[in-house]
Amino acid sequence: MVKTGFNIGKLFFKNPVLTASGTCGYGQELKDFLPPEKLGGIILKGMTNEPREGNPYPRMAETPSGMLNSVGLQNKGFDYFEKYIYPQIKSFDTNIIININGNTIEDYVELASKVTTLEKIPAIELNISCPNVKMGGMAFGTNPDTARKVISAVRKVYPHVLIVKLSPNVTSIEEFAKIAEDNGADSISLINTFLGMSIDVKRMRPSLATVTGGLSGPAIKPLALRMVWQAAKSVKIPVIGIGGIMNAFDALEFIMAGATAIQVGTALFIDPQAPLKIIHGIEQFLLEKGITDYSNLIGCINK
Ligand code: SIN
Repeated sequence: MVKTGFNIGKLFFKNPVLTASGTCGYGQELKDFLPPEKLGGIILKGMTNEPREGNPYPRMAETPSGMLNSVGLQNKGFDYFEKYIYPQIKSFDTNIIININGNTIEDYVELASKVTTLEKIPAIELNISCPNVKMGGMAFGTNPDTARKVISAVRKVYPHVLIVKLSPNVTSIEEFAKIAEDNGADSISLINTFLGMSIDVKRMRPSLATVTGGLSGPAIKPLALRMVWQAAKSVKIPVIGIGGIMNAFDALEFIMAGATAIQVGTALFIDPQAPLKIIHGIEQFLLEKGITDYSNLIGCINK
């Protein structure tokens, strides 16, 4: 048995494979395909204080080696989650992490404070990178000043592990990685989706009702990998890599570039068991290479 556990702050992760927000609901959906306790963590679908209807349909479009989405953070709000969903998932023996969103800094702060009341939620992923909403989201995460303000405001009220999810739609990912670290983040996760679009030529209409949406999947992997490598070199806090990870070799690329952990997202739509295969593949690789200390793999291309 090889050990791939690690800590972010005081929080222990049994392995480096987490599921990405918005790709497996609240985790219950996964239970038919894999035991949740096998995962390093589950990042829940993006949540807001108040219920949100999300964007008009169509909200999804397939593109070459990728997928565009413009869900618009549809969710039933914190109160519904606390009453109906949390009781169903709080016994999962893995790290359940809430992805929090808001229109204003006050919204983010209020939601982060409410989450502290949920004993079995050890961390939040602060989403300042959703490309599909007019207020909040990427608007916060692509402006250094608002990014600073929202991260430090949430840090003041949230005592547990704070992961900040960064947008790739910036010129310098290093700048935003540093802003997160300097304002109290325990970790950064990157990347969220790239702003993209596609046109349904036969209908002579945009494929998405909102015209633009977030691009994910293998199409973005080399771009995501480059950004994870750049971010990991510019901060000391652990980096969680995201972006088109379909198999163990993709995951290993991110880890070798400097990611302590990775999130699997779009792959789940094709193979909901992909995270298990990735965990197994990483362990096999370590065994084959005779690497007994997982930390030696992290960022090994830079050593
Ligand atoms: C969405 O709900 O539109 C996607 C969320 C995100 O990209 O952060």
